[in-house]
Amino acid sequence: MKSNIQDTPLNKQLFGEDFIWGISTAAVQIEGAHDADGKGESIWDVFTQKKGKILNGHHHHIATDFYNRYQSDIDLIKQLNIPNFRFSISWSRILPDGTGEVNQAGIDYYNRVINYCIELGIEPWLTLYHWDLPHALEQQGGWTNRAIVDWFTEYVAVCANAFGDRVKHWMVMNEPSVFTGAGYFLGIHAPGRKGIKNFLPAIHHAVLCIAAGARTLRGILPDSEIGTTFSCSYIEPYSAKPRDVAAAIRVDALLNRLFIEPILGLGYPAELTVLAGMDKYILPGDMDSVKFDFDFIGLQNYTREIVEHSFFTPYIHASLVKAEKRKVPITAMGWEVYPASIYHILKKYDLYPQIRKVYLTESGAAFKDEVVDDLVDDPKRVEYLQQYLQQVLKAKNEGCKVEGYFIWTLTDNFEWAEGYHPRFGIIYVDFETQQRIIKSSGLWYAGLLR
Ligand code: BGC
Repeated sequence: MKSNIQDTPLNKQLFGEDFIWGISTAAVQIEGAHDADGKGESIWDVFTQKKGKILNGHHHHIATDFYNRYQSDIDLIKQLNIPNFRFSISWSRILPDGTGEVNQAGIDYYNRVINYCIELGIEPWLTLYHWDLPHALEQQGGWTNRAIVDWFTEYVAVCANAFGDRVKHWMVMNEPSVFTGAGYFLGIHAPGRKGIKNFLPAIHHAVLCIAAGARTLRGILPDSEIGTTFSCSYIEPYSAKPRDVAAAIRVDALLNRLFIEPILGLGYPAELTVLAGMDKYILPGDMDSVKFDFDFIGLQNYTREIVEHSFFTPYIHASLVKAEKRKVPITAMGWEVYPASIYHILKKYDLYPQIRKVYLTESGAAFKDEVVDDLVDDPKRVEYLQQYLQQVLKAKNEGCKVEGYFIWTLTDNFEWAEGYHPRFGIIYVDFETQQRIIKSSGLWYAGLLR
């Protein structure tokens, strides 16, 4: 009888003994305590104060109060049988001015979190940069100033020396395309800068920092596992018309190839004419120094995008055809639920022989969750996770080098410019009382990992 992998009930054994199962978070989205214990201002502290930047005027000053509740939240990770916890370090807690004096209280805080994970048998996975640049550095140009390579290297070295005796898995950066695109081109994320003149240097300096940060880690911690993460969406043209197909190729280069290819030693994608002005930021020797042989690449996938030619969109001449308009199932972010996206993404990145190993470091969905009789039943999220995982399994069984999966995210949290409205957690948070309720999806994950 012909077997169909889609029909196989999910079971963690199917992914193999060594498959890494985890949960992901980020400092700004959960910690709160934005000015506690000597922390300096970050670009998000400044951006959230500006009128009209965050939906409903929300800010992250308390968020899920993880800073104070880390023990009970890590207890929940334990209760859900999740063996790996990915979280990010806030640069301005460690170096309040971005460089120079180290804030010991910041180091102590992350030591408490790391030590508590280890005490409970949970492996800590650290992201060094999840978008919260110290404001003092932004005042000197932030990602548009090439000096950021030195600033970032200094920060990475402080973290490696402080935590490297216990932390074995490191991610240099989270989704550079989002923080440069949304923060330095569209102006919809911190620091709110716009235009190509900010975007191009930010791209190149981020690429330089990914490699410089990784080299710093490897120099100090030769035995640790070093990766970095990229967002990626499966891209398809709206029609078979040559101009839609060409538009899809450009968007794919922008969203899926722009950052990873230079790091793999392939240079910037030639299809992107938007990069025409990039040359002036690339100094001799740069394209060699941006190469780094990562132990793993973290891929983060939520959806697919359908692309059509658009004469009026500057630089890229392409636009996304909204999922809502296409009448397909969507999440609370308006993103299409399209499980095969994660399969195609794994197949796509499998074509790069330079990539040794892939972990899916984020995957998840926001839905409108409600508390009924003290319970939160979220069947759509359970179905989403099951279907995406089936596709991961299919890719793995076809030989793709995928060796881990981290759900985004532990608790509902501060979803950047969208505020607290989209709920991505497998644990519900009442933001008034900070009460946590494990959703059905959390119970489902606990069952899978039992
Ligand atoms: C980011 C997270 C974010 C999630 C959902 C990823 O792009 O790394 O910080 O909350 O997607 O939007």
